[in-house]
Amino acid sequence: TESMTVKELSAKFGREVGEIIKKLMMLGVMATINQEIDMDTAKILASEFGITVEELPPAEDPTEIPDIEDSAESLLPRPPVVTIMGHVDHGKTSLLDAIRQTNVTGQEAGGITQHIGAYQVNYQNNKIVFLDTPGHEAFTAMRARGAQVTDIAILVVAADDGVMPQTIEAINHAKAAKVPIIVAVNKIDRPGANVDRIKQQLTEQGLVTEEWGGETIVVPVSAKTKTGINELLEMILLVAEVQDLKANPNRLAIGTIIEAELDKGRGPVATVLVQKGTLRIGDTIIAGTAYGKVRAMINDRGDKVKKATPSTPVEVLGLSDVPMAGDILAVVDENTARSVAEKRVSKKRIEDMGQMQKITLDDLFTQI
Ligand code: GTP
Ligand code: MG
Repeated sequence: TESMTVKELSAKFGREVGEIIKKLMMLGVMATINQEIDMDTAKILASEFGITVEELPPAEDPTEIPDIEDSAESLLPRPPVVTIMGHVDHGKTSLLDAIRQTNVTGQEAGGITQHIGAYQVNYQNNKIVFLDTPGHEAFTAMRARGAQVTDIAILVVAADDGVMPQTIEAINHAKAAKVPIIVAVNKIDRPGANVDRIKQQLTEQGLVTEEWGGETIVVPVSAKTKTGINELLEMILLVAEVQDLKANPNRLAIGTIIEAELDKGRGPVATVLVQKGTLRIGDTIIAGTAYGKVRAMINDRGDKVKKATPSTPVEVLGLSDVPMAGDILAVVDENTARSVAEKRVSKKRIEDMGQMQKITLDDLFTQI
């Protein structure tokens, strides 16, 4: 129930209707006996009467896959997942390339790392996962859909340009998601570069650097000359160590769709970041309105793999449809996959219909 009438509240609380109306009035709500009172107001009202409200667990949504709680003993360390954010043209992609090259030159002589929107870097025997999302729009979209995939945000700020509107937006998104921020002041090779000026601007946004008494790690880098890349990777590992990131690899997999598309030859292809459990070939999966069996998995180097453990990004083939970025992928039994996917499709149809009607009405009004 989303609301209750004053009469119903009176019965529930065991108080006279008049008393309820009077209290509501004191709270600034004018109500009659049949007035619907929303749950938030009802809760405040209850506390005014000294009644404690017990929250019932939310009703099971047939379109949701309930998550299983993992015991503390089942948890094992997992690599950190890092998202690069920042203003347009400040060098996010270049920085990722520089990081990847450090990795590539180290182990794959002449090998070209296949781009799958997310990749793993090996630095001093530590894995770090980078999400190659186009700035923070994808991050926002994912967050809006309830997906939390990022452990650490790298905020790229060009030393010759400074804090810009999208920099501030990125800071706000990371803060809202409670994700620690490491600032990479990029393009320090440029003539107009002024790291101290950037630090000053960051302070104005509440990001005070360590040497100025704050807690924000600021690493001056150049994606062009590869200066500071190792320091940045070291700082990522340092922050990750404090976070003590863990997941249970021995359970049915849960992950998030990073990106997905319809490939002409291969059908729907989804890049998935596995977050819990191990995803295997043959697993029955559901993601958004799509479902199917994992037919093949390809890692960030373009190799076919049979399984993917927590914090591993993989391309997954075998879905019936193209899911959306931010959709949760879960391994379930076949019946659940089909029935939940069908329920999601009809739910979406109803939502879309509501939207269409609204647009038509609005259009009518604007035309008159
Ligand atoms: P969007 O994806 O469009 O938001 O841009 P981005 O943040 O990914 O920036 P990108 O890596 O595309 O770099 C933008 C421009 O800055 C390119 O011309 C790069 O060559 C240049 N650039 C990036 N990093 C550096 C650097 O460290 N030094 C210098 N001099 N130029 C850089
Ligand atoms: Mg880019």
